[in-house]
Amino acid sequence: MEWRAVRGMHDLFGEELLAWQNVETRMRAILASFGYTEIRTPVLEKREVFTHGVGDETDIVEKQMYQVSGDGDGEKSEKLVLRPEGTAAFMRAVIEHRLHQSGKPQRYYYYLSMFRHERPQKGRLRQFHQFGGELINDPTPEADAEIIILLHAIYQAFGINDYEIRINSVGCVKCRPVYREKLKAALAPRIAELCPQCQKRFERSPLRILDCKSETCQKIAATAPKFADSLCEECKTHQAKLCSCLKEVSVPFIEDPNIVRGLDYYVRTAFEFTSNLLGAQSALVGGGRYDGLSEKYGEKSMPAVGFGLGMERLMLALEAKGLTPKIDFHPRFFLAPLGEEAQKKLFALSVSLKRQGVWADMMYEPKGLKNLMKSADRAGAHYALLLGDEEIKKGIAILKAMKTGQQEELKLATLEEELLRRK
Ligand code: HAM
Repeated sequence: MEWRAVRGMHDLFGEELLAWQNVETRMRAILASFGYTEIRTPVLEKREVFTHGVGDETDIVEKQMYQVSGDGDGEKSEKLVLRPEGTAAFMRAVIEHRLHQSGKPQRYYYYLSMFRHERPQKGRLRQFHQFGGELINDPTPEADAEIIILLHAIYQAFGINDYEIRINSVGCVKCRPVYREKLKAALAPRIAELCPQCQKRFERSPLRILDCKSETCQKIAATAPKFADSLCEECKTHQAKLCSCLKEVSVPFIEDPNIVRGLDYYVRTAFEFTSNLLGAQSALVGGGRYDGLSEKYGEKSMPAVGFGLGMERLMLALEAKGLTPKIDFHPRFFLAPLGEEAQKKLFALSVSLKRQGVWADMMYEPKGLKNLMKSADRAGAHYALLLGDEEIKKGIAILKAMKTGQQEELKLATLEEELLRRK
């Protein structure tokens, strides 16, 4: 037995986790400034949440979901899965709690781990973390623009500007079937040249052939009719307004007819931010509009638009740019007692300082002076405080600034106040 984490899943700790936490805090602050409040849904959902919501013929649902043995309880066992994405689970929660009832725009975000049984590689994990944002009850193109503007603001705030914002319209229930047929008719004569996966996609999701990574498929896709030419008037107007909103606030974008996304629920706007900072995986974030999703759960149509941002990919982009936050997590003081009496006094002092919010580290096991100073250094403390029998007799303690090596004597009677002045 090898004691390792499951393939494609990682432990997070130490400096790496401190950097993550720093990014998470800044992210939450930006989301709050755009009016998004947090929602947390359970890690397990009924399988149907995703088969109905994301589509049972999508890769995510068909091939990548982790199934968990059901919630038996003696009754008929339910099929449960680890959530592979957030939007369908979010919509389940919206409906369960009637969050859409007011009919007014509502903004939610989540920060959750997602599970997909994909082939792991750089930037692609089996357990990964997503910041997702969802805006419901707003059918306007301005809402779509807001999501893209928010994401642009996020990456800019982190100092990342090496990406392209690619937007597309994938049409609606009215115009998509028409385009689908046009596309199939155009691709049919070349079906044998497509990659095996796209040959399979041809019948059930021909639009996905447009974003296949295979060079041959891309070449063939380039000759296919463009969706933009088949959009209905409403979809065209929506897309045009979205583009003008983005221009108005100087958010650069590319209209890319090949952004079709791998989830079934999108209508009209679909977008991705792609970057070459990530290696093989190019999508920093993806999202779009999903007005019809609520209907899959038997509700009336509810306008909604949102995004899913991969946290691992954001951290990779920061690393590639040398912008990973370096977080100081070191004790302010390292208390170094020499002898039993000093040990007792400094133990009480360390507790008292900690209770007042000041990290005063201390080695409980008795050690010699050299050893203690080495520990203070290794801990990265700003100050070491030395106390031995000699000092106790004189009523002083010695405070050493670790960086400069400068020492000063502090009176024992006022020691705690003096340290608090230097916190
Ligand atoms: P998605 O494109 O499947 O969309 O995922 C969104 C983002 O999650 C990707 O752009 C990427 O950054 C990250 N991601 C996806 N899979 C992995 C993986 N295996 N390892 C690491 N990162 C990954 C959705 O999930 C939609 N729910 C987004 C959405 C929200 N649409 C509307 N609202």
